[in-house]
Amino acid sequence: MIAAYQATCQQRVDQALEQLFQAPQADLQRLYQAMRYSVTNGGKRVRPLLVYAACEALGGDPAKANGAACAVELIHAYSLVHDDLPAMDDDDLRRGQPTTHIAFDEACAILAGDGLQSLAFDVISDPELNPHSAELRLQMLNRLAKAAGPAGMVGGQAIDLGSVGRKLDQAALENMHRHKTGALIEASVALGALASGVASSQNLSALQQYAQAIGLAFQVQDDILDVESDTATLGKTQGKDQAHDKPTYPALLGMQAAKAYALELRDQALAALQDFGATAQPLRELAEFIVARRS
Ligand code: IPE
Ligand code: IPE
Ligand code: MG
Ligand code: MG
Ligand code: MG
Repeated sequence: MIAAYQATCQQRVDQALEQLFQAPQADLQRLYQAMRYSVTNGGKRVRPLLVYAACEALGGDPAKANGAACAVELIHAYSLVHDDLPAMDDDDLRRGQPTTHIAFDEACAILAGDGLQSLAFDVISDPELNPHSAELRLQMLNRLAKAAGPAGMVGGQAIDLGSVGRKLDQAALENMHRHKTGALIEASVALGALASGVASSQNLSALQQYAQAIGLAFQVQDDILDVESDTATLGKTQGKDQAHDKPTYPALLGMQAAKAYALELRDQALAALQDFGATAQPLRELAEFIVARRS
């Protein structure tokens, strides 16, 4: 059931994303090509899925969530392009393909990331691509900017790079994960809820509890897979965290405790949805998916 829901949402967001990469003039072909390459190369689309599922949990129309779904995936794709750069994680494989700086070049990858980031804010503020009132669009824009920026994902990446080779305690590790991965996942759920047009503050706070739990669980599972999976399944080089001496949950707690923690977070996420009915089923199944995924 989640597979069918995923396929529908992936198709919906991919169709919307595809419209965004038409180069307006010939000398920008390469930049647009690099942006398209970084986005349309087979990601799981977990963040757009969360946007749609949160919108539908509140009875909203998913067609009105396309702008938010594109925007979060654009930010995510940009974060991956920069994360893979030699100055950061120095990875040459992503989603089973050469990373953007390998397929193009480093300067082009930096600019493609910059372009994707700006495009996300373009989409979320554009009344045609994100058909909501100016007030709601501004609220969404601000929510996304905070999650993507120095108090969110970028801050988490800075903590990550600053922690290489150091031993973090569990509170510090959690703080890093909540920033680098949790913030954008939380924003995805919040933007989806806002796109329903009917989110109450009570809805938003229950959904935030859900999102905080799965946001952390997502990176715990990413760390587990870096140890346990293989490069072909992951589509990215296995074992990079250890090779780069990154602080991770399996390294800190041990593998069994890291897995138990991921499941505990899933249970917290499900508990946060207890007052929701059947419309929240995709959100529940996504919580399962996040801790059961193998790539
Ligand atoms: C990988 O994210 C990077 C993290 C934030 C942990 P995903 O696992 O969602 O990557 P794609 O989009 O499916 O490739
Ligand atoms: C990435 O974390 C988080 C981002 C904000 C991109 P990782 O460095 O663990 O992601 P992967 O394992 O390279 O996908
Ligand atoms: Mg990284
Ligand atoms: Mg990385
Ligand atoms: Mg990782």
